[in-house]
Amino acid sequence: MNGVSMKTGFLWGAASAAYQIEGAFEEDGKGWSIWDKFVRIPGKTFKGTNGNVAVDHYHHYKEDIALMGEMGLKAYRFSISWPRVLPDGSGKPNEKGIAFYDNIINECLKHGIEPMITLYHWDLPQALQDRYGGWESRQCADDFAAYAKLMFERYGDRVKYWITINEQNIFTKFGYVTAWHPPGIFNDRKRWLQANHNVNLAHAKAVLAFHDLVPDGQIGVSFAYGPGYAFDCAPENVMACQDYNELENYWWLDVYCYGAYPAAGVAYYMAEGVMPEVTLEDKKLLKAASEQLDFLGFNYYHSNVSEANPLDGATQFGHMNNSGDKGSDDIMGVPGLYKMPPNPYLRTTDWDWAIDPEGLLYVCRALTSRYRKPLIISENGLGAFDTLEDGKVHDSYRIDYLREHVEAIEKAQLAGCNVLGYCVWSFTDLLSWLNGYQKRYGLVYVDREEAEGGSLKRYKKDSFYWYRQVIQSNGTVL
Ligand code: BG6
Repeated sequence: MNGVSMKTGFLWGAASAAYQIEGAFEEDGKGWSIWDKFVRIPGKTFKGTNGNVAVDHYHHYKEDIALMGEMGLKAYRFSISWPRVLPDGSGKPNEKGIAFYDNIINECLKHGIEPMITLYHWDLPQALQDRYGGWESRQCADDFAAYAKLMFERYGDRVKYWITINEQNIFTKFGYVTAWHPPGIFNDRKRWLQANHNVNLAHAKAVLAFHDLVPDGQIGVSFAYGPGYAFDCAPENVMACQDYNELENYWWLDVYCYGAYPAAGVAYYMAEGVMPEVTLEDKKLLKAASEQLDFLGFNYYHSNVSEANPLDGATQFGHMNNSGDKGSDDIMGVPGLYKMPPNPYLRTTDWDWAIDPEGLLYVCRALTSRYRKPLIISENGLGAFDTLEDGKVHDSYRIDYLREHVEAIEKAQLAGCNVLGYCVWSFTDLLSWLNGYQKRYGLVYVDREEAEGGSLKRYKKDSFYWYRQVIQSNGTVL
């Protein structure tokens, strides 16, 4: 199939996160993260899966990066495990942990791959959670800034693309509202919004420290963006869509790009008595950081639908499909504002995520209109059951998904969006936080199941060869 050539230097990438691939959870001086502890609580993850070994990237990194080189990957987005480099969260660095990421970076450069670092992909040092309640304390923003500076100093000579925080909207809400993520607090919006505000401060402090230490680098963020289409043109549903966008998207995006919370969101949370404490100093800090944000990264998997929701309607506390048992998701929402029914026009994955490539075009255009920043699609991919047969995985369903999404990016480019790069989630198969190892995303298959003990051998899927050809042709052969 013919596609459109992307701009020269387009970052054809793939992504991962430390906890989901590394394993070696206690090796070479690494401290525990909040996930190392949380996964040990019975019932929290699919079949009790954890990242003790994950896909053992810690010991397979050379092989994995050589495969990236063979694919011709232009960029590799990975995250640093904060407790691997600072086991206590602050203080004395663990030089063996620092050396591990030095090796990753050098290996990438050897293969002509641009390393792209995410500073925080959810694995807060457990030491900071124990010391002062993690993100609930403003001190965490300072400790994050010190950690970020250390990383800029150690790796900034070779790494030019940096992402502060991954999916702040997801990990804070799941941590303090639904209790699906650590620290596992249920339905406490006051604590959620304060912790979230402290993450904003952490992000801002890191951004403000960045350009002095890495003058030729670029820094951004990764936001989980699911647009919420109005269910139909009934005014109450269009209003629900507005509320959804204010509270699910602009609540974060406006802070990153304008340095301020959206007015309707502030009014709503004030009326609910849960607005976080925001000082004058905080406002100045957020504003200054927004002016120094180089790009807006976002992760796109699916769109949502917004429909009016009565006060006694859908809540955020239903069942989430973590098993791949299609059709088992509950409809969720915020009582009095909006709920998110399925979209009758779209197909879904086995985990009930809508498949909507057009939504990626929609998102690129919406972000460009509102914020005018260059964009990086920092994650996009298909979680599916894969079958290994005779050393091969024929994942034509994944190729179709990726092809349609790449087409959407090409349309976005033609529509004037400045898209710098695209990272397929994920390079190898990995641990899906709540869904175990059976929900596979990789271009490379890894032999392991929910239980420990697979060979951990790597196999190139059909999608590996497909993406290689897309990269080689700069998007013209799809
Ligand atoms: C994003 C995360 O939410 O989506 C990744 O940044 C995650 O870490 C990915 O794995 C897919 O989600 P899931 O729940 O299917 O693993």
